[in-house]
Amino acid sequence: PADTQGERERSAVVDVAHRGASAYAPENTIAAIDEAKARGAGTVEVDVQRSKDGKLVLFHDLTMERTTDVEKVYPGRDDYRVGDFTLRQLRKLDAGSWFDASYKGERIPTLEEGLRRLKHEGLNLLLEQKAPERYPGIEKETADLLKKHPWWLAGNPSSEPNRLAIQSFDHASVKRSHDRLPDVPHGLLGKVAKGELGKVAKWADQVNPDHKKIDAAYVKAVHKKGMEVYVYTVNEPADMRTAIGAGVDGIISDVPDVLLKVIEEQ
Ligand code: G3P
Ligand code: CA
Repeated sequence: PADTQGERERSAVVDVAHRGASAYAPENTIAAIDEAKARGAGTVEVDVQRSKDGKLVLFHDLTMERTTDVEKVYPGRDDYRVGDFTLRQLRKLDAGSWFDASYKGERIPTLEEGLRRLKHEGLNLLLEQKAPERYPGIEKETADLLKKHPWWLAGNPSSEPNRLAIQSFDHASVKRSHDRLPDVPHGLLGKVAKGELGKVAKWADQVNPDHKKIDAAYVKAVHKKGMEVYVYTVNEPADMRTAIGAGVDGIISDVPDVLLKVIEEQ
């Protein structure tokens, strides 16, 4: 990224549906992707982890009790970590009923299924590597999968919202991913100290903190280093307006329809 984008023309704030439109449909499912489209999001954020047999899947928590019926299907285990189950085992789980009975039978999607559905829906993707330290090599596996679907690697003109960006709280993982996919924008989750921005700007394209931790001066400092700011997780209209006023480039929200209305007010 260039070192001087402080004064660049800024386009509309990007509306990112967090784990899909997760206020309205079970998070990280195909239903949540479809709901994001229906609610007017332009981009969907998902979390990626890996099954025991090496398949990349969409799932947020490190264990599966909260958002599946795993304890019913596989009773008596000490724990229910995503990475301890094969894809075939994961596929037996109901990842929808916990949210609402109408989503009974919703399955844990693979990343590949997510890519296909997002493309079909005309949605962009903000892909989070969730706890990549648990999944050594996941950056390469993700890059290899994306190369099988090269549409995702094309078409990231700087004037448009990113078709694909990859982010993580694990900044070493982001660097590894950037080294494999240097043309894909990469984001650092969490706030990066102002004094570190110049260093990370050599390979990062976004700094994506909690919305409560930033102000206009911080956003300006990130922009000055040629990077963007996407904030999470913003569900209240007043907080959305504050973030937009601070100059952020994107907002990650469980309620992309509410966010769309606020963006359209501007
Ligand atoms: O995209 C940012 C946000 O998703 C990070 O937090 O816990 O929802 O993955 P979490
Ligand atoms: Ca996430």
